[in-house]
Amino acid sequence: MAKSKQLYLLFQILLVLSLIDLCSSESIIFATLGSRSMYSFDIYSVPLDSKNSAPLSELRLTDGHSLNFNGQFVTSTNIIREQQQQQQQRAIELVYATERGGVSTIYQDIIFNPTPQGLRREALEVSAQRVELLSGDGVSMKDRPSLVGDSLIYVSTHENPGVPRASWAAVYSTQLSTGLTRRLSPYGVADFSPAVSPSGVWTAVASLGDKGWNGEVEELGTDVFVFSTRDGSNRVKVVEHGGWPSWADEFTLYFHRRGDDGWWSIYKAILPKNGELSVDSVLTQRVTPPGVHSFTPAACGNESLVAVATRRSGSDYRHIEIFDLKAKKYRELTRPITPDAHHFSPFCSADSKMVGYHKCRGSSRGMKSEKPLFLENLRSPMPEISLFRVDGSFPSFSPDGNRVAFVDFPGLYVANMDGSGRRQVLSDMAFATAWDPKRKGVVYTSTGPTFETESTEVDIVSVNVDDNDLESSYKKLTHGGANNAFPWPSPDGKWVVFRSGRSGHKNLYIMDAVEGETGGLHRLTEGPWSDTMCNWSPDGEWIAFASDREIVGSGGFELYLIHPNGTGLRKLVQSGSVGRTNHPYFSPDSKKIAFTSDYGAVSAEPISNPHQYQPYGDIYTINVDGSGLKRLTHNSYEDGTPAWGPNYIQPVDVESAYNAAQCAFEDLSWLQIDSPASASHRNRVEDYNGSTKIQCGG
Ligand SMILES: *[C@@H]1O[C@H](CO)[C@@H](O)[C@H](O)[C@H]1NC(C)=O
Ligand SMILES: *[C@@H]1O[C@H](CO)[C@@H](O)[C@H](O)[C@H]1NC(C)=O
Ligand SMILES: *[C@@H]1O[C@H](CO)[C@@H](O)[C@H](O)[C@H]1NC(C)=O
Repeated sequence: MAKSKQLYLLFQILLVLSLIDLCSSESIIFATLGSRSMYSFDIYSVPLDSKNSAPLSELRLTDGHSLNFNGQFVTSTNIIREQQQQQQQRAIELVYATERGGVSTIYQDIIFNPTPQGLRREALEVSAQRVELLSGDGVSMKDRPSLVGDSLIYVSTHENPGVPRASWAAVYSTQLSTGLTRRLSPYGVADFSPAVSPSGVWTAVASLGDKGWNGEVEELGTDVFVFSTRDGSNRVKVVEHGGWPSWADEFTLYFHRRGDDGWWSIYKAILPKNGELSVDSVLTQRVTPPGVHSFTPAACGNESLVAVATRRSGSDYRHIEIFDLKAKKYRELTRPITPDAHHFSPFCSADSKMVGYHKCRGSSRGMKSEKPLFLENLRSPMPEISLFRVDGSFPSFSPDGNRVAFVDFPGLYVANMDGSGRRQVLSDMAFATAWDPKRKGVVYTSTGPTFETESTEVDIVSVNVDDNDLESSYKKLTHGGANNAFPWPSPDGKWVVFRSGRSGHKNLYIMDAVEGETGGLHRLTEGPWSDTMCNWSPDGEWIAFASDREIVGSGGFELYLIHPNGTGLRKLVQSGSVGRTNHPYFSPDSKKIAFTSDYGAVSAEPISNPHQYQPYGDIYTINVDGSGLKRLTHNSYEDGTPAWGPNYIQPVDVESAYNAAQCAFEDLSWLQIDSPASASHRNRVEDYNGSTKIQCGG
């Protein structure tokens, strides 16, 4: 054979191989808790009147798309200033994080001729020029931007520290003209909430230092560090126990911490003008009094004004207020305008004439109800797999991949992947769904209260979702209600593996898929611990499950594999000493597993967000041999319960078929408004109970 012919053949083979690869394209969908699909943020501003009067209206600065959050006003760059002068325009310049495409990145808006205050809101829509400041390579969370000259300072989670339960959040600077990016946080250190000093020379961060993350979801226990914005050098700890720094001038920082009396409060740190900078040479003092939670401070100029988010007794909402250090008084900014909305992360203009913040657009009272997304597409780090957030918990794909079963508390639902054909199948409290691989339309679930003890009344049922008469196809497969849950059928449809607390501990059992436990039952695992969330590989070889067998009662879970005949037990994912790795779901080719984990820890200070039980939950995949760990999601929400389907779903958002009230979400449940002192002394056991409730379902 001539050499060119050989080459030609080789190319043909390569082409066929690559086509096979394309043909095996698939989709992963997952649920996000905390009403995430029910809200979207925009950034707004109000004027800060020197006469202390409350603003009458707010100006929406961002464009009403996606989630726009954590803004900062920017002082004019030269180019903009020239443009403005030429066109005699006024402009507001804003940098902010935005979640377009399901992954946060950083945008700059220049808003020309912002309309004067006092007009109706609709008239305040403003025209903007918008640029994406970071090009979208890779998938990671980008947050808390500041612009210093030509450099953007921000948090990113694109580097894996390689240690389970270590946050990937670190501070970077990118020179916008060259794209040159430099890591400012030392390797092995997680930094959050960067703030750049007025001169641009110094950056302050909330940092876990080398302490690592201990599973905390309320106050992270960060310290404030200061370093040189240019290259991260001269890094010094300036405050023990503090977060969310903001500079008033080159020597004055505000920060927040939960005080010993339980109240989140604003503190001031005064750095020495001469001499060595250290925790000991920095003077700190509390500036806001107990009785009001005050957090996420933003210095408004150097005139002793600080903008804060507050939670007050008698209100269910988080508002923005100004605290005047001289008068020792609060001044309300947002409650007079929108009393029934949460407002987050205030920021001030350099001239102290404007305060910005973000909040949900729309209204919890349903003034403007929008269709939520049934499927929200996220940029996927694996091009052959499309990735979606689905509006429903515990999703599972039908065998042909064209339908999804899910839970929307309470009740079991099915829908087509385009959101159509949504049908409520059961109205009981249900969780963990699975489709029978052989009997068309048969779905398994467990009904009863979730996340309870071994003896709780929960049983496994099957129902044919295609039957008009659902009652006649409804079948209870287990009896006695000893917390029987997480059913998953064998690929031949003959058996169902599930977890049960019938022995006094949650272990795995296998029963007849049609007749249930009366048709045949045997025990797969046994021991004084919890095995749960089982998933049978499509090739029949393995059952994956979550277990706390090596860390009983710690609240942690790890993933294991076992052959259905009880041999071959091995650990698949280790997530630190008490990590939480849950909800395994095999890929259609049985070679990989998707799961949710705290492997990447938290990515932002939880107090800057709406309530999330487990803000560290992210979606990962791993090969069944334990190699090739990949992180799919990067955000500060609780992502959980992934499902892996055999079809490539077009990577576009799919609207829900129904309207829903927007902005119906809760502020942090752990912000105790009336007796914070008792809250701060709650022990870890209670914390774990509270947070185990949602994701683990142990
Ligand atoms: C406060 O800021 C103004 C201008 O923004 C400046 O002129 C003044 O010197 C500052 N005062 C202090 C004490 O830094
Ligand atoms: C158990 O199942 C595995 C995987 O199918 C198989 O390799 C092994 O031989 C089986 N062992 C026994 C004792 O049946
Ligand atoms: C947490 O669990 C412990 C031990 O099971 C129990 O004694 C305690 O009452 C629980 N606390 C809450 C708040 O559920």
